[in-house]
Amino acid sequence: MPVPHPAPLSGASYSAVELSPAGDVVLMLDQRRLPHEELYVELRDAAAVAEAIRAMVVRGAPAIGIAAAYGLAVEARRGGDLNAAGALLARARPTAVNLKWAVDRMLSFVPASPEELAEHARTLHREDVAACRAMGRIGAALLPERGTVLTHCNAGALATGGYGTALGVIRAARELGKDIRVLSCETRPYLQGARLTCWELDRDGVPVELITDGMAAHFFGRGEIDAVIVGADRVALNGDVANKIGTYGHACVARMHERPFYVAAPRSTLDPNTPTGAAIVIEERSSDEVVRIGEQVIAPANVRARHPGFDVTPARLVSRLITELGDVPGERARDLM
Ligand code: MRU
Repeated sequence: MPVPHPAPLSGASYSAVELSPAGDVVLMLDQRRLPHEELYVELRDAAAVAEAIRAMVVRGAPAIGIAAAYGLAVEARRGGDLNAAGALLARARPTAVNLKWAVDRMLSFVPASPEELAEHARTLHREDVAACRAMGRIGAALLPERGTVLTHCNAGALATGGYGTALGVIRAARELGKDIRVLSCETRPYLQGARLTCWELDRDGVPVELITDGMAAHFFGRGEIDAVIVGADRVALNGDVANKIGTYGHACVARMHERPFYVAAPRSTLDPNTPTGAAIVIEERSSDEVVRIGEQVIAPANVRARHPGFDVTPARLVSRLITELGDVPGERARDLM
């Protein structure tokens, strides 16, 4: 049964995921219902959290890592098998490395009491918020005093422990007084840009306009975009970046128009064990998400759709990779790993 509101650890007025004070319930904002309804589901074991990650109740690389950490905390509380729970959580989605990173980090504390594991999970969450704030400060310095920034998917508070990676940079720039406006790509087919990025920026009073993904090149051509900033699901050792499908196209057009393409991601998204983007497993999602918009079918009944959930932007197209430790050109990503 959905519930109205937990107390967000980040201090914000909403949160993608939280652990109850007693450490026995994971509260998750059901992002599938946004922007229409703001309701949290209550999950009491790791299997339920894994299913919620798979079903995209929560999504976004850092947020699913935090959800997995809380999933292990509630599993510890009910005396479950933590190794089995960890394996289940780690395979809920394949592309974002934060999921495995968070599970490995939590399992490294075992054996520990349920109370200790809950505190370790909360620490992981707090560290993510702190990393977003630090990325914000570092990335804000790269943005102009005034201008329009294109973003794709949702790399905001909803995709992290709070504040956001790419949207954190935009928030921080505005907190510095920079006049930054946002073009949010709708992000077909799951519409994270339209449903989630517009929801959270509008709520914060950040000027945001929605465009369809295919409009981005038009606005570059008219000189209406000053920079691109996106998040990441995994950054390979050579700096190649996996992010939401459609990102690579924006990077190409940004290079064509000599505009910077920035990627903001915490170090939990950097994966020294993946040598290049070619080794990143790309999640294949249902054809149904492409041939339907809501309940409406938009293609002939016999046509199947392709649906890779992510694409890989080559490191050479990444002007700066921004982490909580600093920013480097994409091809120097390994300096931050
Ligand atoms: O399929 P999603 O919504 O989980 O994809 C999310 C993204 O691609 C985000 O851009 C990425 O996780 C960065 S979130 C800070």
